[in-house]
Amino acid sequence: MGELGIGLIGTGFMGRAHALAFRNVSAVFELPVRLHLAALADADSQRAEHCAAAWGFARAHGDWQRLIDDPAVDLVAITTPNHLHFPMAMAALKAGKAVYCEKPLAVSVEQAQQMQQAAKAAGVVTRVGYNYQHNPMIVQAKALIDSGELGEIVSFQGEFSEDFMAAPSSPFSWRCDPQHAGGALADLGSHLLAMARYLLGDIEAVCADTQTVHHQRPASAGSHERRPIAVDDQAHALLRFASGARGTCSSSWLKHGYKNHLSFEISGTRGTLAFDQERLNELRLYRAGDSGFQRLLAGPALPGYAAFSPAPGHQLGYNELKTLEVHELIMALGGHGQGGTDFAEALQVERLAAAIRLAAAEQRWVTL
Ligand SMILES: NC(=O)c1ccc[n+]([C@@H]2O[C@H](COP(=O)([O-])OP(=O)(O)OC[C@H]3O[C@@H](n4cnc5c(N)ncnc54)[C@H](O)[C@@H]3O)[C@@H](O)[C@H]2O)c1
Repeated sequence: MGELGIGLIGTGFMGRAHALAFRNVSAVFELPVRLHLAALADADSQRAEHCAAAWGFARAHGDWQRLIDDPAVDLVAITTPNHLHFPMAMAALKAGKAVYCEKPLAVSVEQAQQMQQAAKAAGVVTRVGYNYQHNPMIVQAKALIDSGELGEIVSFQGEFSEDFMAAPSSPFSWRCDPQHAGGALADLGSHLLAMARYLLGDIEAVCADTQTVHHQRPASAGSHERRPIAVDDQAHALLRFASGARGTCSSSWLKHGYKNHLSFEISGTRGTLAFDQERLNELRLYRAGDSGFQRLLAGPALPGYAAFSPAPGHQLGYNELKTLEVHELIMALGGHGQGGTDFAEALQVERLAAAIRLAAAEQRWVTL
């Protein structure tokens, strides 16, 4: 069994989630390679040192290029703000290293295209952090749809709402800078668009409306200085799938009461399936003629669940989805699978988000 050196860039929310997944994956699954936590980088070198020691990485770097140049690193995991995905992934691909990049892939379709072309030329494995698709209940939802259980699919109603920017006093962050991110659509909507494509395939036309509700926010927490906001707080879109199904997609980071409401209802000629990430161990299924919805609960009959627990109803959580995503990635690196979102698929998500922005700006349908 060979060894795979992991290099992780970023120690924020996602940096920790990746570190947990890389640490846990070999305890949960039989892997074709042994993982070595080779290096951790962060612009804050003291934090890099601290987290490397706490999370079990052999070395810390304050300069991400040094992590990419590190011969002990075979796979580069990128968990930095969105505008840094492009330079970091391009450098890693130039060095011939596999890349696991957080979503969304980039801040423009042009960047995403270059990243996809560089990945293709390098011939390495790439994956993007659309972790919600790795939920065993989502895998089951796809199996139910593909088996025809719901009949012909006619409708997808999707929403990803949170409320972390609901208060006008929520401060400016890199997520509010159009050069660095792209608003609620890029932050949350990208997950929903990736999910819609995963479950129902290509979307060929969109019509949309985007809105900035709070036009100024404090420059930092508690500051009296105000910064203008030029990204969307909420986006609503109509979708036409290539299959003929119709749909909706909404994303908002200011919908009070919602913390991780990635949800959808998919209905077909024979039934309806509903999911909400805030209850990620459940699906609700209605078959035509039933007296009401039945609740399907995650359990060890689903392989992704069984890997963690032999007992039904004991519940997986967000970090387990990340572990499942990393498992797919390691299997692909070992030549044993193709699951997960690669740069080519993530580029399609970027095209879709760009089409939604264009449709909103020009107030018309946009065909992809
Ligand atoms: N898949 C998911 O469910 C999910 C959830 C949250 C965030 N994300 C994505 O993860 C990425 C990071 O988001 P986050 O919430 O972890 O952000 P964050 O602000 O919590 O963390 C960003 C990290 O990047 C580091 N960083 C910034 N500039 C750097 C540089 N030049 N060199 C090295 N390190 C640098 C920061 O110091 C920080 O540790 C984003 O792309 C975001 O969209 C994905």
